[in-house]
Formats: sequence, C-alpha cells, structure tokens
Amino acid sequence: MRTAVLASGRGSNLQALIDACGNGSLPIKIVCVGSDQPETVALKRADTAGIPTRVFHMSDYPDRQAQEEDILSWVRENRVELLLLAGYLKVLSPQFIRQVAFPILNIHPSLLPAFPGLHAQRQAVEYGVKVSGCTVHFVDEGLDSGPIILQQAVPVLAGDTEDTLAERILEMEHRLYPEAVRLVALGKVERIGRQVRILQ
Ligand code: GAR
Repeated sequence: MRTAVLASGRGSNLQALIDACGNGSLPIKIVCVGSDQPETVALKRADTAGIPTRVFHMSDYPDRQAQEEDILSWVRENRVELLLLAGYLKVLSPQFIRQVAFPILNIHPSLLPAFPGLHAQRQAVEYGVKVSGCTVHFVDEGLDSGPIILQQAVPVLAGDTEDTLAERILEMEHRLYPEAVRLVALGKVERIGRQVRILQ
C-alpha cells in the first residue's frame, strides 16, 4: 500500500511507522513524507530513512486552499493509497477530505471523543480524569471526530503533569498506530458508517 505521511514536528510516530516497515511487521511502503513546517525533526527522520520529503509551508501559498491543492497534487503524483497524519497539527478542510478517495488515518493522544483538538493531555490533566489514552481513527470532515479504529487506555497518575502523561501516552501511540495501520493494510478493517469492525 503506497502511503504518505504528514507530520508537523518531532515525528516520533513517523519513526515508529518507519521502524515497523523496516522490521517487516507493517506491510505498507511509505513513499513520501510531507510537513507544513520547514526543517522539522520529522523531515530529518524521513531523510535518514531515504524517503522523499516535501514542505507545504503556509507562507509559500496565497491561502489554505492553495496549500491543500498542492498537497492533493503531491499525493496524486505519488499514487498514494493511504494517508497517515502523524502529529500533523493543521486540520484538513472538508473540501480536501471530500476529494480524497483513499483512507486518511490520524492518531490522537486521548480517548476520543474526550479531549479533541490541541493539548489533549493538558485537557485530561486539567479535567481530572483517571484514565486517558490514545485513539487511531479515520479522518472525516470534523475535528478528531471520525470512526474509531483502535483505542488504548493509559492511567492518569496522581501528580501527573501534561508532560509526564504525554510521555506515557506516546509510548502507547508508538505501538497502537503501526498496529491500526497494519490492520487497515491487511484489509481487516470494515467500516460501516461510524462503526469499525476488526475482522479476525
Ligand atoms: C502525538 O502525541 C500525536 O498523538 C499528537 O501530536 C503528537 C505528535 O508527536 N497529535 C495530535 O495531537 C493531533 N490532534 P510526534 O510528532 O512525536 O509523533
């Protein structure tokens, strides 16, 4: 499955995906990596793995629509069949989503639908929940609202800060994202409306 990844920053989830491809546990080919930020660690990780990269920096475009059209051309040129958001912090517009015929997946650091949007771990600590976690979901036209593929709970411990919780959730993300992508790539994920069934 020809796969593109979009990432905005550190790229540790991208690295987990690259590593899983490398050890044979993830049957996809990451053919290109893009970022809305220049010189991110994510792009360096892709370079190191020999994956072609592209920057889609807003300052290079008259508006968001032009930026997204460029991303669309890029995925089409690369004959992409799966798009993975890995810490991509821009919300893709409904117009973009409607024009993409293949699945788009995202990983989010909370148990959705709790704490969508930015700073999910801070939201969880401030709310005082005892359990948070991470979610891999299909991207739809809303904010972190698409059908859920896999979720994993992570306890929130007494004294946790945003950073300590984020670190513990991130460890789990690195396992959950490759696993969810593997299931999709193997055709083991059936989506009926909001319901996602994992086939045995
Ligand atoms: C991850 O925790 C990911 O779940 C989160 O950004 C971080 C990126 O880390 N994504 C979101 O909050 C999306 N709403 P990484 O760049 O090291 O993969």
